[in-house]
Amino acid sequence: MIEIKNIKKSFGEKVVLKEVSAVMEPGKCNLIIGSSGSGKTVLMKCIVGLMQPTEGEVIYNGKNYITMSLEEKKAIRKEIGMLFQGSALFDSQTVEQNVIFPLDMFSTDKYAVKRKRVKEVLDRVHLAEDAYKKFPSEISGGMQKRVALARAIVLNPKYLFCDEPNSGLDPQTSIVIDKLIKEITEEYETTTIMNTHDMNSVMEIGDHIVYMHQGTKEWEGTNKEIIYSDNQKLNEFIFASQFLQDAKHMRMIQETGEIPKNVHDDVRDALEEKFNTDMDGDGIVGSPAE
Ligand SMILES: Nc1ncnc2c1ncn2[C@@H]1O[C@H](COP(=O)(O)OP(=O)(O)O)[C@@H](O)[C@H]1O
Ligand SMILES: [Mg+2]
Repeated sequence: MIEIKNIKKSFGEKVVLKEVSAVMEPGKCNLIIGSSGSGKTVLMKCIVGLMQPTEGEVIYNGKNYITMSLEEKKAIRKEIGMLFQGSALFDSQTVEQNVIFPLDMFSTDKYAVKRKRVKEVLDRVHLAEDAYKKFPSEISGGMQKRVALARAIVLNPKYLFCDEPNSGLDPQTSIVIDKLIKEITEEYETTTIMNTHDMNSVMEIGDHIVYMHQGTKEWEGTNKEIIYSDNQKLNEFIFASQFLQDAKHMRMIQETGEIPKNVHDDVRDALEEKFNTDMDGDGIVGSPAE
């Protein structure tokens, strides 16, 4: 478990994070969401230790990471896997060499043992063996993400960080990568923290969601709770289009049997027709015939 308490981060006069607190749970996909510039990457960097927060605590299993000894910090770092935005693979190294890199850094195992582990994780992310000797530029964006994910989990991390893992991917490939992250999180019981502004990810894998708005934690909850939230900023961010707002309302009606206020006329009409009732009390069921 990772707990962050009152994290503040400023760059000179510029305040980027304002007293952010949250708990990131093991075996769960903890999502940090918010529009571009809201502070997701800075927050993630503060949690992993790539940036020093101006104030506040980052607690790994009950101990403050910021103030612990260098030895203790190193031990935590070994348990962190990270998938950087844009994959960040080494261009001049093959797939296999990219994935073996953390093992070369941290493990004293024999080469044969390391290669076996590399194959295990590449199998886990469903990467075929004919890609092992290829260079990143020779494989698709989706495959690059798989390689980056394999590299992030090769040391069997307790904590998995993914910064915008879907950036640059088409929606279908994004969902495949999301599901892979979710499966791995559950299998290895990692505390996974993922930054995203992809709404498909939020709905698909968001066990626990922290919504950031201009450096402040504006809302926190599950992907189910998002549907019912009346937080205006969150709703404007998540359900940005009329289409998504209608989808939200439909879902609420299906689950609660009640029509929320401000529902779009077309949605109300469609629902009246579906349930064959006059919900708006105008004496007409559905939209009047033209
Ligand atoms: N090293 C830095 N120096 C100054 N400002 C920074 C630095 N890194 C990030 N910022 C600022 O912090 C804010 C949040 O950035 P970031 O965390 O990257 O947003 P997000 O990941 O949500 O898009 C932005 O306004 C950005 O310009
Ligand atoms: Mg970012």
